[in-house]
Amino acid sequence: MPENLPVPRHIAIIMDGNGRWAKKRFMPRIAGHKRGVEMIRVMSRACALRGIDYLTLFAFSSENWRRPEEEVSLLMDLFRYALEHEVRNLHKNNVRLKVIGDLSRFDPGLVQLIQKSEQITAQNTGLTLTVAANYGGRWDMLHAVTRLLIQRPELAGQDLTEQQLAPYLAMHYAPEPDLFIRTGGEQRISNFLLWQLAYSELYFTPTLWPDFDAAALDLAIASYQQRERRFGRTSEQMEVCRT
Ligand code: IPE
Ligand code: IPE
Ligand code: MG
Repeated sequence: MPENLPVPRHIAIIMDGNGRWAKKRFMPRIAGHKRGVEMIRVMSRACALRGIDYLTLFAFSSENWRRPEEEVSLLMDLFRYALEHEVRNLHKNNVRLKVIGDLSRFDPGLVQLIQKSEQITAQNTGLTLTVAANYGGRWDMLHAVTRLLIQRPELAGQDLTEQQLAPYLAMHYAPEPDLFIRTGGEQRISNFLLWQLAYSELYFTPTLWPDFDAAALDLAIASYQQRERRFGRTSEQMEVCRT
């Protein structure tokens, strides 16, 4: 990887393709999800090694409740198992774990486990790993506006600013993603970070999430490094900024 090019500070990934990975191998979908969870460990390490500060992973969307009950229930079990078994390892590697999403639909035991895992790793100064669970971009925005108006009722009826809303969004503690990756071949956002992806560089790959390894990550970063991020300005203006 070229050393003089900037690495993204924040990478957000839709981890898609677990089911197809399993199906190709004549295995049940949950086998793909298990392998998918293992890849979270691989990817966290790879990101930390590359100097990436924030890795955000879409694990379960607000729409995924529509899946067969059995798959939802197995996914919940897997989430619990991963928290119980992986947090010690994350802590050892100085990773700070965050979970974003509407936790009100999870069972109280799982919510407690999430909170405990976040507390254990809260002071860590390495990679911030955010797992989006029962997360939806639309939920995030509505939830933020609702909380803003509850806490600052004097703002009701006024034009709100982005700065006023920002602290109430789920990812208020992180810069916006520089690079968005979706594995599994679909080219859509599926209600992931709608607000925060406004100016992210988008990268879509047919590689299925269980196959998305460090080499695949390097390809995505290399693609990112070739982009010119203009944020509305012209290419000529950006040239002036660089010199
Ligand atoms: C992504 O893999 C994981 C979750 C949504 C929980 P999928 O389960 O969507 O895998 P495909 O898209 O069916 O292959
Ligand atoms: C998006 O994947 C959500 C997660 C990876 C958690 P899906 O597989 O649920 O997305 P759609 O339904 O194909 O858009
Ligand atoms: Mg999918």
